[in-house]
Amino acid sequence: MLTSLKDTTTLHNGVEMPWFGLGVFKVKEGSEVIESVKAAITNGYKSIDTAAIYQNEEGVGQGIREAGVPREELFITSKVWNSDQGYESTLKAYETSLKKLGLDYLDLYLIHWPGKTKYKETWKALEKLYKDGRVRAIGVSNFKVHHLEDLLKDAEIKPMVNQVEYHPHLAQKELLAFCQKEGIQLEAWSPLKQGQLLNDPVITEIAAKYGKSAAQVILRWDLQNKVVTIPKSIKEQRIIENANIFDFELSLEDMEKIDGLNKDERVGSDPDEMSVGFTE
Ligand SMILES: NC(=O)c1ccc[n+]([C@@H]2O[C@H](COP(=O)([O-])OP(=O)(O)OC[C@H]3O[C@@H](n4cnc5c(N)ncnc54)[C@H](OP(=O)(O)O)[C@@H]3O)[C@@H](O)[C@H]2O)c1
Repeated sequence: MLTSLKDTTTLHNGVEMPWFGLGVFKVKEGSEVIESVKAAITNGYKSIDTAAIYQNEEGVGQGIREAGVPREELFITSKVWNSDQGYESTLKAYETSLKKLGLDYLDLYLIHWPGKTKYKETWKALEKLYKDGRVRAIGVSNFKVHHLEDLLKDAEIKPMVNQVEYHPHLAQKELLAFCQKEGIQLEAWSPLKQGQLLNDPVITEIAAKYGKSAAQVILRWDLQNKVVTIPKSIKEQRIIENANIFDFELSLEDMEKIDGLNKDERVGSDPDEMSVGFTE
């Protein structure tokens, strides 16, 4: 059983990635993101997930510095945005992200969305960054099984992580099984369905039984399914609450009840339809 925020999953290249972290999508650049990142790290979080398109990498970097925890204890992720896909443009985008963050390496760099025509070229740039020792792990986001199958035909290095929308209304069983078979760690975005799952009666009933909140039950379900999770909050009390999930275990019966909520329903875009930023 996982026992603390320090617990990690070992990626297929041996890098240790925390099971739990803070997401900062829609968190405003400036004091809002600085304070959220600082609150998370000072309360024991080791992992922060940002992206170039969130336009808050500078504040994330400042929050990291102000928290005063040694860089090597942290796990920082960013993502190359759709309009920067392509070999040279991805190499450049990586440098821009590092500069904004004020860091000299990332722990994980992801292709944000697959698009249709450029992800293999983009992947080559990530492989180059990895081989040059500029980034500790590389991966993808929003890749379905067909995207992964296609990428794996030509990839020299298998993605270490696939970050996708994942919550009890979108349980992604086939994708999870595929990633597990291939040794690709699945990571959940919008694990709380952006707050929409917190009043679900099945979840609130289970939460009451364990003396936990609905958010804690959902995040624990992620961990027990061996999925890394990165809930977002800008409120320190919730940041603390969300991480307090290492002192209980959902029974198999309750895990199955939550599985039963699946309706293959997304809150974000379908990766096959995401076209923002792509020119293809
Ligand atoms: N790769 C991708 O394409 C992609 C897409 C979307 C997201 N992501 C990543 O995944 C992270 C998480 O996803 P998300 O931000 O979309 O949504 P989420 O984590 O599912 O939900 C965040 C929402 O839930 C609220 N919340 C958080 N904890 C709560 C609690 N304990 N009780 C009640 N409400 C709570 C937050 O409000 P407050 O802030 O007011 O507390 C916010 O409105 C993002 O921040 C981002 O890093 C990646």
